[in-house]
Amino acid sequence: MAAYQTIPHKLRIGPVELKNWLVLAPMAGITNIAFRLMVKTQGAALVTTEMISAKGLTLYQERTLGYLKSDPRERPLAVQIFGSEPRTMAKAAEIVLDTEAQILDINLGCPVRKVVKTGAGAALLLEPGRLREIIREVRKAWPRALTAKMRAGWKPGHPLAMDMARLLEDMGADAVTIHPRYASQGFSGKSDWSIITEVKKSLSIPVIGNGDVLRPEDALKMREITGSDGVMIGRGAIGNPWIFSQILLLEAGITPQKPTIRERREFIEEHFQLLCHHVGQHGAARMMRGLLLWYTKGLPMSSRFRGAIGMVKDLSSLTRAMDLYFSALEERDK
Ligand SMILES: Cc1cc2nc3c(=O)[nH]c(=O)nc-3n(C[C@H](O)[C@H](O)[C@H](O)COP(=O)(O)O)c2cc1C
Repeated sequence: MAAYQTIPHKLRIGPVELKNWLVLAPMAGITNIAFRLMVKTQGAALVTTEMISAKGLTLYQERTLGYLKSDPRERPLAVQIFGSEPRTMAKAAEIVLDTEAQILDINLGCPVRKVVKTGAGAALLLEPGRLREIIREVRKAWPRALTAKMRAGWKPGHPLAMDMARLLEDMGADAVTIHPRYASQGFSGKSDWSIITEVKKSLSIPVIGNGDVLRPEDALKMREITGSDGVMIGRGAIGNPWIFSQILLLEAGITPQKPTIRERREFIEEHFQLLCHHVGQHGAARMMRGLLLWYTKGLPMSSRFRGAIGMVKDLSSLTRAMDLYFSALEERDK
């Protein structure tokens, strides 16, 4: 894709100066090291790990510690933790301090039952006293940039966003991300960007808007409508990491092109190689099957390919199916 011709708007989080205003959302099961590295090649200024259990970290569980693995090329990196016990959260922050992460993010948005029943995630929006204590303890343990990512509140009619965002600022958070759906909504309905506008108006720390940025133009629209300092993208980047470079091109006044079949193929192959390197061939083949469904969404002749890879069990059949499909697409494009 073409080089950017203007300097993009920038975002600063505490001492961390980001090269632009685009952030990859934390997504459990998705934003692993390979995905983050690939997104970074498309210009995202900041990438975030998936949410990591503070308790799991403090128990030194091998699997949980594995989520902290990072690569120098993805820096600056934000690590997101979740939990409900102030001391455990602070202890987890100390463990993250041993990594190269520049930003620690506290999850105040996860609505999943397994998480909220422990008092963590979005459940913390119902307990300002506990939240205050968590931020106080974590702030003491974590001298680097501290952020939190929150929902609009627990359920409609109980708007909390402003109060909670102010509490976070008062307690020393360096930025707040807001996904303006209520926890009770899950992913239904549309995110209410007017809540981002309100939060932005009442804080002096940077506010990052999130929710329903699915096309490049949505990101510019969100920033313009809400005045947010940054924009975070989740689902819009799955199978479509080019969204970041496309937004930067749009910002520079250039109409972005879709990636060619060849570019797409090379990108997917690189993603696959990275996965193989980080999780081994077996895990990579399993994850890639899911990712390929996203990467090939809307492409010609994709339904047969998508049906075929659903049945594929091993790495060699997967690469063969991929080769056949992309060769057929390239042939068709000639
Ligand atoms: C598969 C999936 C996993 C997610 N995992 C997390 C997570 O670990 N931590 C978090 O704060 N939000 C998580 N989210 C929420 C996203 O970060 C984001 O707030 C939400 O998807 C709305 O943004 P979007 O419309 O750009 O997708 C997840 C979302 C999805 C779709």
